[in-house]
Amino acid sequence: MGKVAVGADNFLYPMPMVLVGANVGGKPNFLAVAFFSAIQMKPPVLAVSLNKIRYTNDGIKENKTFSVNIPSVELMEAVDYCGINSGKKVDKSGIFETFYGKLETAPMIKNCPVCMECRLIETADIVTDNIVFVGDVVETYTDDQYLTGGVLDLIKTNPFLFSVRDKKYISIGERIGGAWEAGKNYK
Ligand SMILES: Cc1cc2nc3c(=O)[nH]c(=O)nc-3n(C[C@H](O)[C@H](O)[C@H](O)COP(=O)(O)O)c2cc1C
Repeated sequence: MGKVAVGADNFLYPMPMVLVGANVGGKPNFLAVAFFSAIQMKPPVLAVSLNKIRYTNDGIKENKTFSVNIPSVELMEAVDYCGINSGKKVDKSGIFETFYGKLETAPMIKNCPVCMECRLIETADIVTDNIVFVGDVVETYTDDQYLTGGVLDLIKTNPFLFSVRDKKYISIGERIGGAWEAGKNYK
């Protein structure tokens, strides 16, 4: 049986959903983001790809800081709300209880299990519709309840994913094996 060509399609796996935050005109604003990736482990660097028309972009450019907040499934409706409504039309500054860290201008969300505070290091205008903001993670914040042996525990943070072609949010599953381990005896 031959392969079926379905057209050029970046059918990526379900993508982690995050809320990216910035202060716009001195007020916190958050948008829902699926086009997001870690691009270096140590020191940690993240990239977020935002459409050129996003209100949040103004704040990232203004302060040279932004935050990446990982919500748990309980925040799904609030995340979707931030993905439907632009700060250009709706004041999103009061949706979440926020806090600031070392950089002082990157608003983070108290009831997200993981908040990463980023300093902008590069703004890449390399594709037609989006701008890629690259940031050093200067600090990561969590709560005791999400740690196991002092280490962030993915299962406890209970994040969710975006499934791009059916436009659904889905939860993560079980741990299925050890990385750098499962293949050791494979022949
Ligand atoms: C599931 C989902 C994923 C999204 N992913 C992105 C994304 O990766 N990049 C982006 O620019 N917009 C993305 N959006 C759209 C923005 O979140 C949305 O346009 C938001 O209202 C922009 O807010 P702002 O104008 O206040 O910045 C996504 C929306 C949803 C619902």
